[in-house]
Amino acid sequence: MILDNHIPIMTNEILSFIDGKKNLSILDCTFGGGGHSKMFLERGHFVTAIDQDNNSLMIAKRLKKSFPNIFFHKSNFKDIDLLSLKFKKFNFILLDLGFSSNQLDNDNIGLSFKVNSDLNMNYLCSDLDAFKILNYYDEEDLHRVFHSYGEINQSEKLSKYIVQQRSVKKIKTNFEFIEILRNSGVNFRSKKIHFATQAFQALRIETNNELENLILFLKKVHKYIQIDGHLAIISFHSLEDRIVKNFFKNNRVNKNNKYYNDENWGFEILTKKPLTASKPEIIKNNRSRSAKLRVGRFMN
Ligand SMILES: C[S@@+](CC[C@H](N)C(=O)[O-])C[C@H]1O[C@@H](n2cnc3c(N)ncnc32)[C@H](O)[C@@H]1O
Repeated sequence: MILDNHIPIMTNEILSFIDGKKNLSILDCTFGGGGHSKMFLERGHFVTAIDQDNNSLMIAKRLKKSFPNIFFHKSNFKDIDLLSLKFKKFNFILLDLGFSSNQLDNDNIGLSFKVNSDLNMNYLCSDLDAFKILNYYDEEDLHRVFHSYGEINQSEKLSKYIVQQRSVKKIKTNFEFIEILRNSGVNFRSKKIHFATQAFQALRIETNNELENLILFLKKVHKYIQIDGHLAIISFHSLEDRIVKNFFKNNRVNKNNKYYNDENWGFEILTKKPLTASKPEIIKNNRSRSAKLRVGRFMN
């Protein structure tokens, strides 16, 4: 069965950068439910799409029946240089990071703390999962994960408690893990979000190597953009957004048209501050509330 509940976000904002342009070659690195790809195809563009997800592969096959100009690759975008691409350079490259609503709704992946499921969180066919992290990482590594990726102040205390608890009984499900968080005595940072949010985020980032994937991709992306093409990246948490912001900053083109890096390419930053979803969009689609879109124009 195909899961198909994902609503693409910030579509008007994205389209505003290619308004009136025809027959562009577009690279959608995070195809997901295909919402953004379909939007580009409907406007006559050629779309090369990447996603590691099996459900995305099925959606792409279905889409191909109506839009032959979609070329889908089931892969991790960090491995773009291993793919045999029909187009070598692109006018517009989009990354809409993280996981889709289809993946959130898939209880086998277990990303939600609202539904009890086996501990997994692996949505990118990685070798790791949350069960292995929680039950087999040593205390120091657990501390690293919760500190670096969850920004949990008392991550040392949390890691010690997890190690204690798992020596009594393996931690097998999301709800068992939430119970451990509840009893750990750790003061979770914010009252605005569910107290398990940061710990779940940390496990998800570690399981899927989210930050490393992005960093590796950004090291290669300049080889794939046409001059004057755009790189647009939507991120959903501050760790990702910091990487994107620094990437554009470290590779910007100065006012006097000099490249800031030592190489012969750079980006004109088109979003001094990241764009966010409009109020009506946030009301319609709560997922869009934490999205930040940064866009740069490639110069060479
Ligand atoms: C937020 S969803 C994208 C939704 C899509 N823009 C749409 O409109 O339907 C993110 C997607 O990116 C994929 N993804 C995340 N990181 C990836 C990576 N490193 N390599 C390949 N796909 C990745 C996920 O599997 C997920 O399907």
